[in-house]
Amino acid sequence: MRIVRAPEELRAACDSARAQGSRVAVVPTMGALHKGHATLVEEAARRASTVVVTIFVNPTQFGPNEDFAKYPRTLDADVEMAGAAGATMVFAPAVDAMYPAGDETRVRVGKTALALCGEHRPTHFEGVTTIVAKLFSLVGPSVACFGRKDYQQLRVITRMATDLFLPIEIVPVRTVREADGLALSSRNRYLREPDRTRAAAIPRGLTAAARSFAAGERSASALEAACRSIIEPSVDSIDYITVANADNVEPFAKDAHVPDRALLAVAVRVAGTRLIDNVVLGEEPAPLERAGEGAA
Ligand code: PAF
Repeated sequence: MRIVRAPEELRAACDSARAQGSRVAVVPTMGALHKGHATLVEEAARRASTVVVTIFVNPTQFGPNEDFAKYPRTLDADVEMAGAAGATMVFAPAVDAMYPAGDETRVRVGKTALALCGEHRPTHFEGVTTIVAKLFSLVGPSVACFGRKDYQQLRVITRMATDLFLPIEIVPVRTVREADGLALSSRNRYLREPDRTRAAAIPRGLTAAARSFAAGERSASALEAACRSIIEPSVDSIDYITVANADNVEPFAKDAHVPDRALLAVAVRVAGTRLIDNVVLGEEPAPLERAGEGAA
């Protein structure tokens, strides 16, 4: 396992891997790796022989009152987990290596980034696209793996790759869940009992709506209400519970009759921790039907 700190060293290592005939994949992360990340790395390793895991807590995607300073930084454990999952290289740069003095260019996001999390974290996706574009530029991957848990991020990055003609296959990877259905997230480690137990209402709410959808419900407001009625009593606040177009994440009107494939996305706060989750109705099993799969 090679650990690289400098952007120019990463570029040279990836150039040399490609020159030797290696297909290169990248898995961008902010570290604090868990089984969800390991699943991304395993998927990348099935598709490429050089697998670069990037570990960088990216300051530009955090708002002023968010958790940049306290975000968990666990590099040694991350390197071990990445290697065990099939990574061949870890890139862990310093902030001033990725944003050196004089840095001012940002990748501006469009409509896909406006609703849902974009409404509550207005500068977030621009920070994400900017760092991901920098990482893509350094690695030159054929493949990049992103989790479906951050569904809007996945769509924003897919849009960016299309719009900028990036020759990179963006691979969506399934959400890994705990036995009670809670989606794995680096931020789950902020939760202590009984808040951790309260958070399990999120997959229960998504599942209730998914079951109602499977039984034929197509009213956006009824689907949202089925989800909300379970989540609301357990969480401290709700940023959104929204049914949206699964391709461009544009929310459906409350009185809309939704199509046979639609995104139901949720962002809530539990004891100060912001948690997101989603299910693509009509495309994937309800969260509780996959609970615990691969999470051990
Ligand atoms: O999903 C994340 O961990 C981050 O948003 C990403 C894609 C690594 C960019 O910093």
